[in-house]
Formats: sequence, structure tokens, C-alpha cells
Amino acid sequence: MTTTAAPSLLATLPGRYYTDPELFRREQQQLFETEWFCAVRSADLDRPGAYRTVRVGAESVLITRNRKGELRAFLNVCRHRGAQLCTEESGTVRRALQCPYHAWTYDLDGKLTAAPNLTRMTDVDRGEYGLHGVHLREWLGYGWVCLAPEPPSFEETVMGDVAGRLGGTDVIGHYGIEALALGTRHTYDVAANWKLIIENFMECYHCATIHPELTEVLPEFADGFAAQFYVGHGPEFAEEAQGFTVDGSAGFDRLPGVPDSHDRRYYAITIRPQVFVNLVPDHVIVHRMFPLAEDRTVVECDWLYAPEVVESGADVSRSVELFHRVNLQDFAACERTQPAMSSRAYRNGGVLVPSEHHIGEFHAWVTERLGEAG
Ligand code: FES
Ligand code: FE
Repeated sequence: MTTTAAPSLLATLPGRYYTDPELFRREQQQLFETEWFCAVRSADLDRPGAYRTVRVGAESVLITRNRKGELRAFLNVCRHRGAQLCTEESGTVRRALQCPYHAWTYDLDGKLTAAPNLTRMTDVDRGEYGLHGVHLREWLGYGWVCLAPEPPSFEETVMGDVAGRLGGTDVIGHYGIEALALGTRHTYDVAANWKLIIENFMECYHCATIHPELTEVLPEFADGFAAQFYVGHGPEFAEEAQGFTVDGSAGFDRLPGVPDSHDRRYYAITIRPQVFVNLVPDHVIVHRMFPLAEDRTVVECDWLYAPEVVESGADVSRSVELFHRVNLQDFAACERTQPAMSSRAYRNGGVLVPSEHHIGEFHAWVTERLGEAG
């Protein structure tokens, strides 16, 4: 039996939004290649010549650190015959980026500096054939790139959007994220559309069912309260929990900027289009999503601590394990949902229950960018 109820304000997006390759291609162009996209953790590129390649929309973007120590981003495409310059996900070049095909060589600012026999090729102007640059900004210790020729204002569309949803407060600023050190990173290859992952992150209706460890520490989540989006709320730890850890054991010292009002509290925020940040007193968890296909999304998750915690070699595994389990539980739920998106039962979408109504705003944001609002 199929239902044919017309989509309403309380309906999710229709199933095709999660399965249609053509719609995904439009999301790549009109969303990921247009907005600021959180691509790389700045400290991962720890020296001149260190590079990382990431997929942004349909493009491969190469991010590297130049000799002055600044991050630079380019399309990962050689200007000669279009070979991919770097095929590895990360690495370090000594002085320059050399194409493996005919050895055109670019400096770390993307300038074409050498090519075999170039001096005899009078019709090739070196100045004309540098790598295509990509706009890059650093914030929160991450490099954000934008492929649009004229990027939207970072202050308004990223920082302003976050501050606006935090009621104009600087909740994120208290945690000094840019100064934190990487304790652990997990990468998840999720067989689900990126929007299912965002929607899941934005609701807590599922917490009681699938997150036993999380609801131990944050009992309020057992009620399915939609705290994930409204970060200003900051649910409190359970009385018996000493820290934000898998067994409720004590964590580390509170990060220096975190005020008393934020102690023993958990804050979470979605930074559109593809970042989630979780803030707890002694560490910060940053998720970056890389949508690779309509049914595949890679999520890179960083657990960040005070530098002295990481340098001391302290055991961070109990705090990592808590959200690692949450991630595995969440991504399993998303993977369980993905196949049903192409079912006739989901042709008109599903239902947003009251605690998920704010997800409707995310759907409006997506459809507006796809030119399908209304
Ligand atoms: Fe890169 Fe020829 S394609 S040098
Ligand atoms: Fe969850």
C-alpha cells in the first residue's frame, strides 16, 4: 500500500532528494561549489610543501602551505593537459608541485615556474598558466575554501550565521578552538546522503533509542529534546557524570576560556553546509562531511584537546569512545534509512514530529539554493 499525502510543512523532503544523482549534481554546483566549505585542519599542513587534497562539490581541491607559511588552495588540475597534480590524499612536496605527466612545475603559490623545454616554447606565457586559485579563509583552526568566483561574505554567511543562531553570543569563542591540538581523528565512510546525516545531527528524537551512553551523561536527551540545533541551551551533564566520557569518569581540566556558566554542559551546532561542532568543558569535537555521491558521504571527525593534554600523552580514549560510539550509532541509523529513500512509500517524504520542526528550516535552505523553494 502506498500513501499519497501531499507534502506539507511537517513533511520531510521527498525521497528523491536523497537518491537522485542529477539533484546531487545540482547540490554540488549550487551549494558545495558556491558556499564556504570547511576543507582542512590548518595544523595538518604543518610545514611548507605539506598538502591535502579534498573533494569540494565535483572538484578536487589541493591545499598546501607556501614558503611564507600561509595556506593556499588550488584546483588540483595541471594547466598543461589537465592531469591531476596530486593523487594522494595528503603528503609533502619538497619545494614545488610537479605534474607527474610532463613535469610542469608550480611553486607553492601556484605559479608555473618550469616546464621541460619551456624556454623554446615562445608561445607559452608562464604568467598565464599558473594553477587556478581557490579562495581560502582560516577560522577555528580550519581552512575553509570557496569555489565561487565571488565568494559570499565569510563574516555574514559563516560566522554571522553561527552567531545569529547562538543569540549573538560568542559561545564558540570561549573554547579557543584554533589553539587546540588534535587528540584523535576517526574517518567514517557512510553509505548515506549527506542530508540524512545533517538531519540526524539536528534532532535528538532518536537519542533515547540509539544512544544509551550519551543519554547516561546527558539525561535531558533521553526526552528527545531538540537541543542539537539550539546550541544556546547547553544541556547539563548528569549529576553522577564526572566528565563527558563513555563511562562518566573524569575528563581533563576545563579549557581556559570556558566560563563557569558553561561548565558541565554540552553545546552542539551545525555550521552549514557540512560542519558539526560539539563543545564540552575539556574538549571539542569537529565533524567535517565530504559528500561524494548521492548515497555516500565521508565524515572526518576530530577530537581536540588542550595542547598540554596531547603533549603529555594522556589517555584520551574514554572521551573519544563516547562520541565515536555516538557516531557509529548515528551513521548506522542513516545507512538504515538510505535504501528506503527510493521506496515508493517515501515518494512524498516522511514526517517531522514537533521536536524536529527546526529541520524544516534546513530543508528550506537547501531547496532555496536549488531554486526549488516555494
Ligand atoms: Fe601536467 Fe602535462 S598534464 S605536465
Ligand atoms: Fe545521534
